[in-house]
Amino acid sequence: MPVPSVLTDRLRLPVIASPMFIISNPELVIAQCKAGVVGSFPALNARPAEALDGWLTRIREELAAHDAAHPDRPSAPFAVNQIVHRSNDRLEHDLEVCVRHRVPIVITSLGARTDVYEAVHSYGGIVLHDVISDTFARKAIDKGADGLIAVAAGAGGHAGTLSPMALIQEIRRWWTGPLILSGAIATGRAVLAAQAMGADLAYIGSAFIATQEANAPPDYKAMIVDSGAEDIVYTNCFTGVHGNYLKPSIIRAGLDPATLETSDPTKMDFSKAKAWKEIWGAGQGIGAVTAVRPAAAVVEQLRREYDDALDELAGIREARRQHRTENADV
Ligand SMILES: Cc1cc2nc3c(=O)[nH]c(=O)nc-3n(C[C@H](O)[C@H](O)[C@H](O)COP(=O)(O)O)c2cc1C
Repeated sequence: MPVPSVLTDRLRLPVIASPMFIISNPELVIAQCKAGVVGSFPALNARPAEALDGWLTRIREELAAHDAAHPDRPSAPFAVNQIVHRSNDRLEHDLEVCVRHRVPIVITSLGARTDVYEAVHSYGGIVLHDVISDTFARKAIDKGADGLIAVAAGAGGHAGTLSPMALIQEIRRWWTGPLILSGAIATGRAVLAAQAMGADLAYIGSAFIATQEANAPPDYKAMIVDSGAEDIVYTNCFTGVHGNYLKPSIIRAGLDPATLETSDPTKMDFSKAKAWKEIWGAGQGIGAVTAVRPAAAVVEQLRREYDDALDELAGIREARRQHRTENADV
């Protein structure tokens, strides 16, 4: 099944900049789209709910102005993330606003629902659903999702425990449609690795926290720059759902990362900002982040690294061809 044109045509790199609670704001989304990757934000970031309409109007207008000024380098499309969970009492409102604005890509998390998918399909939008296992992937496709985001071990925010190789391989046994890999991807080489594994695009979150546009306090951005994979703690203590967090932020909040309690998943309330305001989420890929920069510079570096990695692969391919020829001569 071919990847829909909305995920290929206007992209300079096969990347979706993932939605991040609190962090993804219109400035970041617009910068990501202008730089040529899909930008996205959780609808819940627009507060109060009435602000969502204004966010979408602004994003559309600024991207249209960019496209008019740069017809040779049009912006990539944007996506809105809906948390499909009983704790999200805004879902109906936010979905109605997205339908009205004909949001091209909707990303659903924490619940797959046919009525949500049908609402997006009614105007020609596509829905990508994020999953941490093959079982959830099958359920989402049964309910009508158009594509899957495989959230592997090491992803920032709510994350799974499966190796990306295992997760992609299992899903690809039966799913030929759009498949995006999420988790600890922060270099162009890793974007190419995701494709080599069988994914169509890479999903990148944490690397965009350390950007000038991101809605994160300077200390958070600095902590991303200073930390690496060993500084990431996987726990369900803060929201009831397992996720990856920065160890230094847990210590700063007066907690001992070694003795965090297990939380009751039924008490989860994802819409409460507190956990994310004090305890900062991040994935294991942040060792690649060395400075706070404009989002466009992050995308430009990813593009350069991706092209370099492709050239390296061409070298490997040529060496393999020569090896085969020489062996055939023997
Ligand atoms: C601080 C933070 C907040 C996040 N909030 C959301 C969210 O609101 N909705 C969602 O679908 N995913 C959320 N995620 C997960 C990302 O969409 C994505 O799966 C993840 O960032 C990819 O892994 P990476 O951070 O290692 O690149 C969040 C991630 C982080 C780091």
